[in-house]
Amino acid sequence: MNSNSLVSIDDISRDDILDLLERARFFEEHPDHKILDGKVVATLFFEPSTRTRLSFETAVNRLGGRVIGFSDASTTSSSKGETLKDTIKMVSNYVDLIIMRHYLEGAARYATEVTDTPVINAGDGANQHPSQTMLDLYSIFKTQGKLDNLTITMVGDLKYGRTVHSLLMAMRYFNPTFHFVACEELRMPKEYKEFCDKNGIRYHEHTEFTPEVINNSDILYMTRVQRERFTDIMEYERVKNLYTLRADMLAGSRPNLRVLHPLPRVNEIAYDVDDSPKAYYFEQARNGLYARQAIICRALGIDIFKEANL
Ligand code: CP
Repeated sequence: MNSNSLVSIDDISRDDILDLLERARFFEEHPDHKILDGKVVATLFFEPSTRTRLSFETAVNRLGGRVIGFSDASTTSSSKGETLKDTIKMVSNYVDLIIMRHYLEGAARYATEVTDTPVINAGDGANQHPSQTMLDLYSIFKTQGKLDNLTITMVGDLKYGRTVHSLLMAMRYFNPTFHFVACEELRMPKEYKEFCDKNGIRYHEHTEFTPEVINNSDILYMTRVQRERFTDIMEYERVKNLYTLRADMLAGSRPNLRVLHPLPRVNEIAYDVDDSPKAYYFEQARNGLYARQAIICRALGIDIFKEANL
């Protein structure tokens, strides 16, 4: 495995996280450094994506590199039966970095085991989405001025939502208090609650999305119910509309509260929230560009501060 790979947020330290945030800030101020001249990056998306793929590809383009890849695996030889192992080994012949999204949990880890090319996990099933976590942390830091001692409420699909799993793990360094708002079917999985227990993280579970929970939060992290992960569509129909945030529900919230959502949203945030100064999800997605520029450089072993003579 190439040690520059980013498969799980749990693989990197507090110092790594803070260092990446500092570099994301640099890229926000200087987005067009041409430091990837001659580098080719593959984006292999076996699952649909808008933000993750396009922001990674924009990041490479803005840094002067080239992108190859696919956004629809049905157009590739995997539809003829080529294995993931063979696909990764083939692509490794052509590129300096692989950015991969796959519907199977553990697929990115597996990819690192069959190639020496660095791999960035752009989401593997319901497991991890570490680059999303870096942009979430960057967004939290920008809006709160700190990462420590925050109360974060996660709402919606806490079972299948890989973004909440990654974020929860990353926050272990920053003494958070979590509120988990979900129906019985979509509760935070046991393994993540055990992770909280092991790391001394306070958490409270709720089935009701109450004013009290909202008003005690610094970050309200809304999530989409992940239809694609359900085996029983009737169960999806039963739970898909349980939690919707409307603008009036923010009336008693803290001045510093910000509403985050990894997007895409379906109907868990009403459109009237978009006009609230507390809505931050579109800016959050923009932060993805800067966070991913920092992640790409780390994966390729490029020190932007050195390159920029800082
Ligand atoms: N947040 C996120 O992963 O969005 P996409 O599925 O559009 O990439």
